[in-house]
Amino acid sequence: MDIRYKNTVDEVKITSEITREQFALLYNTDSKEETEYLYEAAREVAQKHYGKAVFLRGLIEFTNYCKNDCYYCGIRCSNKNAERYRLSEEEIMSCCTEGDKLGFKTFVLQGGEDPYYTDEKICEIVRMIKEKFPNAAVTLSIGEKSYESYKKYYEAGADRYLLRHETANEEHYSMLHPANLSGAHRKQCLRDLKEIGFQIGCGIMVGTPKQTDDNIYEDIEFMKDLQPHMIGIGPFIAHKDTPFKDEPNGSADRTVNLLAILRLIFPKVLLPATTALGTADAKGRERGILAGANVIMPNLSPTNVRGKYLLYDGKICTGEEAAECNQCLRRRVESVGYKVEDARGDHPDFIK
Ligand code: SAM
Ligand code: FES
Repeated sequence: MDIRYKNTVDEVKITSEITREQFALLYNTDSKEETEYLYEAAREVAQKHYGKAVFLRGLIEFTNYCKNDCYYCGIRCSNKNAERYRLSEEEIMSCCTEGDKLGFKTFVLQGGEDPYYTDEKICEIVRMIKEKFPNAAVTLSIGEKSYESYKKYYEAGADRYLLRHETANEEHYSMLHPANLSGAHRKQCLRDLKEIGFQIGCGIMVGTPKQTDDNIYEDIEFMKDLQPHMIGIGPFIAHKDTPFKDEPNGSADRTVNLLAILRLIFPKVLLPATTALGTADAKGRERGILAGANVIMPNLSPTNVRGKYLLYDGKICTGEEAAECNQCLRRRVESVGYKVEDARGDHPDFIK
C-alpha cells in the first residue's frame, strides 16, 4: 500500500480534519488494500460510538406528486409517465402498525413536494402517529417549506427532518435543478430546521452529472459548518424519463469510499447504507455497513404503490412485502457480523 495513503487515513481518523488533496486521495482509490485499510478505520470509529448496532428506519413513501422539476428525479412534475398516488391517513397508519409489529422505532414519511398535504394535514398525520406510537420517532422528508411550517410540524411532534442539500456548490446546484430552486434556500431550510430543534439530515448523490471532487469537498466543508445529525448519500442513478436519462450512473465504489471518509470526519453521525447503494451494487448495503454506515431504511410503503415511487431506474425492494424486506435486511446486517438494534437510534449528543 502507498504509505501516503496509510498515513492519510491514520491522520484523518485521529483529527477528523481533511484537506482537499487528502480527500481526493482517499476518495478515488480502487486499490483493494487501500480501501480495506480505510474501511477498517471507519468501522473502528463507528464501533467506538455505536458498537455493532444498526438502526432501522421504516420508510413510508406517502405521495409521489411533486411540484418540483429536479432534472435527476423520476417523480419530477414534468414526468407524465409517472403514475401518481397519495396514501390516505388510514393507509399511512396501517403502514406504521405493520412497522411497529416488525420492531421499528422510527417512521420516515417521505414524499414529493405535494401541496395537497397542507401543513394541517401533515400535522394531523404526525399527531396521529405520535399518539398511537409514543415511543417511536417521526421523521419528515417532504422538501423545502417555510420556517413557520417547519415549526408547526415540530410542535405537532415530528422529531427529525431529512433534506439532502444535493450539492453545496451553487453553480453545480443550478446544473441539477431548474432556475426556481436555489441551493442557498435549501441550505437555509436546513439551518431553520436545526434552529427549531429537529435532528436534521442533509446529504448528496454521488456521481451526479458534472460533479467534481472539489464539489464534494465543498459539501464536506458545508457539513462541517452545519453539523447535521444524519448524512444521507447514495449514488445518482439515471431515470429513463428525465433529462439525465443518458448520463452515467454514480459509482457504488466511490459511494462506499465516501461513506468511510464521512465516518472518519463525523464520528458520531447517523449514516445510512441507502437503497440506491443497494440498487447500484447487490451487496452495496452490506459494503456500506462495513465502511462505517449504521442505518438502513426498509420500505414500509404498501406493495401496490411501491413500484410507483421510482426516483431512478431499477430500484430494488419494490416487489416485496414489508415483512419480507424486514427479514431480508436483518439477515443482510447479520451476514456481515452486525446486529439490528430495535431502538429509536437518536444521535448520541441529541437531547430534546
Ligand atoms: N421531496 C423531498 C426532498 O426534496 O427532499 C424528498 C423526496 S426526494 C425524491 C429524496 C431524495 O432522493 C433526493 O434528495 C435525492 O437526493 C434522491 N434522488 C432523487 N432522484 C434520484 C436519482 N435519480 N438517483 C439517486 N437518488 C435520487
Ligand atoms: Fe420533487 Fe423529486 S422532483 S421529489
